[in-house]
Amino acid sequence: MSECCGPVGAGESAASASGPRGTSGVTSRGTFSVNMWVNGRTVRAEVPATRTLLEFLREDLGLTGTKEGCGKGECGACTVLVDGKPVNSCLMLAYQADGKQVVTIEGLERDGSLHPIQEAFVTEGAVQCGFCTPGMIMSAKALLDANPSPTRDEIRQAISGNLCRCTGYAKIIRAIEVAAARLPGAERGDDPGTTGTGAGARAGAGAGAGSDGSDGSDGTGAGALGGVRGFAGPDAT
Ligand code: FES
Ligand code: FES
Repeated sequence: MSECCGPVGAGESAASASGPRGTSGVTSRGTFSVNMWVNGRTVRAEVPATRTLLEFLREDLGLTGTKEGCGKGECGACTVLVDGKPVNSCLMLAYQADGKQVVTIEGLERDGSLHPIQEAFVTEGAVQCGFCTPGMIMSAKALLDANPSPTRDEIRQAISGNLCRCTGYAKIIRAIEVAAARLPGAERGDDPGTTGTGAGARAGAGAGAGSDGSDGSDGTGAGALGGVRGFAGPDAT
């Protein structure tokens, strides 16, 4: 069972710079004890060795904003940030996040307001069914934290592991461009766990998302389990 402690207090700010102290170890019950931060809250839990980070977030912590699409590292719907890097949480085991800072889509809002990237997805019509959207936004967040003014090619690369079957990629890319223009510098990289390198750092397998620029249905690609995802960005403009 997991335990969520309260929001990070002022007295804990120094710790936030270095992240939580991991406690991973096998318990007498054959589970792993873990200690991580999730959206700025300390979480301690015992998890079975086989529990994925995606399962842990959705089923144990109730953070259902993170979606499961393929469950195989190919669609990017499950993307979260781990120490600032986009990760396919369906491929990462929960105990592997011990001592790390995890940010999910729920961690982006501030005082009930959408994050500028979320707003841009809405205003630019980059959302239809929305199933891909949380993962897409987390990839965009990692990109903009590391690179506030990305080129279109860099945006394509950053979301190359995120498949969308509804909108095509043109509006999604446009939304990320709009968000980059709207984001004040002070809001970039100010979240726990979002100060990493972003693009190019996704753990686990990735599907190179080829696209015909209209419906996104041509994404194929292949990745290697546990490898660092290469980039074969969408072709859409
Ligand atoms: S559900 Fe994780 S990559 Fe598809
Ligand atoms: S909006 Fe439906 S899969 Fe992207």
